[in-house]
Order: sequence, then structure tokens, then C-alpha cells
Amino acid sequence: MADSKPLLSLDGDPVAVEALLRDVFGIVMDEVIRKGTSASEKVCEWKEPEELKQLLDLELRSWGESREQILERCRAVMRYSVKTCHPHFFNQLFSGLDPHALAGRIVTESLNTSQYTYEIAPVFVLMEEEVLKKLRALVGWSSGDGVFCPGGSISNMYAVNLARYQRFPDCKQRGLRALPPLALFTSEECHYSIKKGAAFLGLGTDSVRVVKADERGKMIPEDLERQISLAEAEGALPFLVTATSGTTVLGAFDPLEAIADVCQRHGLWLHVDAAWGGSVLLSQTHRHLLDGIQRADSVAWNPHKLLSAGLQCSVLLLRDTSNLLKRCHGSQASYLFQQDKFYDVALDTGDKVVQCGRRVDCLKLWLMWKAQGGQGLEQRVDQAFALARYLVEELKKREGFELVMEPEFVNVCFWFVPPSLRGKQGSPDYSERLAKVAPVLKERMMKEGSMMIGYQPHGTRGNFFRMVVANPALTRADMDFLLNELERLGRDL
Ligand SMILES: Cc1ncc(COP(=O)(O)O)c(C=O)c1O
Repeated sequence: MADSKPLLSLDGDPVAVEALLRDVFGIVMDEVIRKGTSASEKVCEWKEPEELKQLLDLELRSWGESREQILERCRAVMRYSVKTCHPHFFNQLFSGLDPHALAGRIVTESLNTSQYTYEIAPVFVLMEEEVLKKLRALVGWSSGDGVFCPGGSISNMYAVNLARYQRFPDCKQRGLRALPPLALFTSEECHYSIKKGAAFLGLGTDSVRVVKADERGKMIPEDLERQISLAEAEGALPFLVTATSGTTVLGAFDPLEAIADVCQRHGLWLHVDAAWGGSVLLSQTHRHLLDGIQRADSVAWNPHKLLSAGLQCSVLLLRDTSNLLKRCHGSQASYLFQQDKFYDVALDTGDKVVQCGRRVDCLKLWLMWKAQGGQGLEQRVDQAFALARYLVEELKKREGFELVMEPEFVNVCFWFVPPSLRGKQGSPDYSERLAKVAPVLKERMMKEGSMMIGYQPHGTRGNFFRMVVANPALTRADMDFLLNELERLGRDL
């Protein structure tokens, strides 16, 4: 490596620029697109951190390296990264590779612009509005507002801030001094970003009142009523309820109609965190799981999860038509949002958000939608449900698997019961021993690179696996592989 000529700069050398990028793209095709999606290749190449540091030679030095060295570095980055597009990567709520969405991401990266003004992002300002309109229509709104956010957590935090601002517009200027003690309500199954958001926005995590969920993980509306009364009795002012459509672990859908009734009775903002389950709105067969979502004031939805649009693709949708987003977050910087521009300044949407520069996240979804059509995306959602059902039925046929519960979504939660624990369900240390199985299997699968699936404890339940059926390339063979592989990895336990 060290003896080749350093690549000082390619400025002013378009031929060399093109050659380098073609070579890099060739490596991407080889390592990520071809090997990274092949069931016969590894999902990950596990290395201990110290060894990985050595292999990557991370130190940044005062001298540059040669073209060959740079290409080798690109290859190493890809080789030692986890292949989230692989058909045996079941670890996260996002996975898979949609080629059209990836094409959109490549175009976005290459154009390298910011979403804030029509002046520098004319295509994307118009495109973002069109995509948001489409997503709002699926929620059931013919008008409204919205914005692409850097992830579902941030979308949720925007909702908290907007709900508070709408009730107490003074707080934008006067901050927390303008506020009585506030209370917001969400279920014990909610995503952790709600509590993080409360802390980040100065409300404090104590202002988050946790509502009980039933045995399937759905918020109990009667307990929501009770918590609201309790908060009021303690002198707090309720302002927001956050429901979840598709909880992170169990994949549960809160009963939105009943929750919306409670919100209506108490005059509370209803936010629906549909980061995971929002894409179910595309399916005529399954969209009933979100019945009532049209009554929400705001919705968070991540097409980068179930639709495989690629990180990040997350929207906050609003029913509001009063320019609440801009009123809440705007600061009218005169060097960016000049009011005497030669075009309609309403197209400069950058003041709706707390960021200045903002990535373009609409193209990957727009291009994928253009290619697949709404029907193609609907099929993708339906296929995920069908494969999850297949997995459940296959799992029930095998001795060493125990379902946590019948899933209503594409999260399939289960224990692998190793041979030494079979038939021992009655023994006092059964649960404790069972909880130790998933971490051992996880270590084995990652060290072999054969697959990745997440596990967690949950409430009183010890560690169990959460299978996520989201990658559009999955087949029944991959479901069979998952079961066979767990049996193989755990046969001596
Ligand atoms: C229900 C729910 N809401 C919000 C989020 C956060 O989304 P992001 O990872 O894009 O911040 C997740 C992530 O898994 C989630 O499951």
C-alpha cells in the first residue's frame, strides 16, 4: 500500500474523478449489492473492536494516500460493515434493499443540496410537498401540513413541541416560565423517544404519565382516563396523548378510536406514533389496524422501516392548516428567507423546522413509489403480513419454539427452547435459564455471520427473540432458514 503515489487532489481532473467514482461504485456493486444481498454470503464479519481498529487503520494523518489505497479502504469499510440488505438480517425494523430507493439516495447524495429554499432545491421543495400530500391522503386528510424529519424520534419530538406551542404560544418566547406543570400521556409500550423528547424539550420525564397496556401491548383507554384525572388532581395540565400504531417490540396497535374519544372529551392533542406501523395504511386488507388515525392531530411515519425506503425517511404529518409548523419553529433569518425574492417565498419551507440545512429525504420514496406504484407497495406490505403468518405456523409445528403471543403485525416474538429445557416448563428456574439462551445464540450467530435477529427482555418476560419480517426480498425459505439455524446454533444447549 505505502509505496504507491498519494492522491493529493482530483480537482480539475474530471477523467480521474470519473474513474475513481466508477471504481468505488464497482466495489459497492460487488460488496453491498451482490454479496450483501446473497443468502450464501455472511451477514456480518464479526471482529473484536481492537482487531477492527487495526484492520481499518483509522488514524487520520497529514499525508494523503494513493488511489489504490483509497479503493482498498472503501472495500474494507464495506467488508466489515453489517449487511442490512441481507435476507438473514432480521435485527432491526429496517432492512432490505429497494433498488429504486437506492437510486434516489445516490442521486440525492450526488446533488448534495439542502431542502430549505426553492432557490437551491426547486425540484425537492415541490416533490416533498407532493409526497407529504400523498401520505396525508392515506391518513385520511385532504389538507394539512408536514415535513420530512431526521427519524421517527425527531418526528415524535416535533409533535410534542407543536402540541405544547399550540396550547401555549407564549412559550416560544418566554420558554418554560410561560408554562404551568404539564402532563402528556403515552402507554408503557411507547417508543423511548417520547421520554427523551420530554427531557429534551424541558418538560422533564416526570411529565410523561405512563398509561397501562393490555396483555397484547395496546394502550387501555380506561387507564388513560384515569391517568388524566390523576394528573389533574395533582395540579398538572394535560395537553397531549401519544398513541402508538405498531409498537417497537410486540408490534401492537393502540385502539385509536377510543383514544381519540378521550382526547376529544378533554381537549387534548392526539399524536400517533406510526413510525413502524404507518405503512400498513397502504394495505386495503390490514389498514383497519389504524382505524381512527384520521382523528389524530399529528402522525409520525417512517417509510424507511416497513417500505425499505432507506435511512432516513421519516415524516411528521399534521392536520393543521394554520401554518403551525412555521409559527412554532420559524425565526425569519433574513439572509436565507428574504421576503423580497423574485418567486413565491411560501416555497421556502425551511423555517418550518429547527434545523438549518436539511437532507433531502423525499426522492428515495418518490422514486420507489413511481416505480412500484401504490399497488406494488401495498403488495409488499401484504406479503410481509403473509410471511409473518407462515413463520408463526411453522414455528408452532416445531418442538423448540414458544410464541410470546399471536402477532397482529410482522413482529414475531418467540423463545427458542433448547433441548435441555424442553418439558421443564414447571421447574422454578425455567424462566431464568430460558432468558440466558437468546444472548448465547446471538453471540454464536454473529461470530459465524450466519444471521442477525434481535432479542430483549420485556416487562416480566425474560429475553425472547423479536423476528421482524420487513425485507421485501424475504421468502418462505428464509423463514425456514431462521428456524433451522436457531435449532442448529442451540442444539447443544
Ligand atoms: C414505534 C417507534 N417510534 C419511533 C421510532 C424511532 O424511529 P427512528 O429510529 O427513526 O428515530 C421507532 C424505532 O424503532 C419505533 O419503533
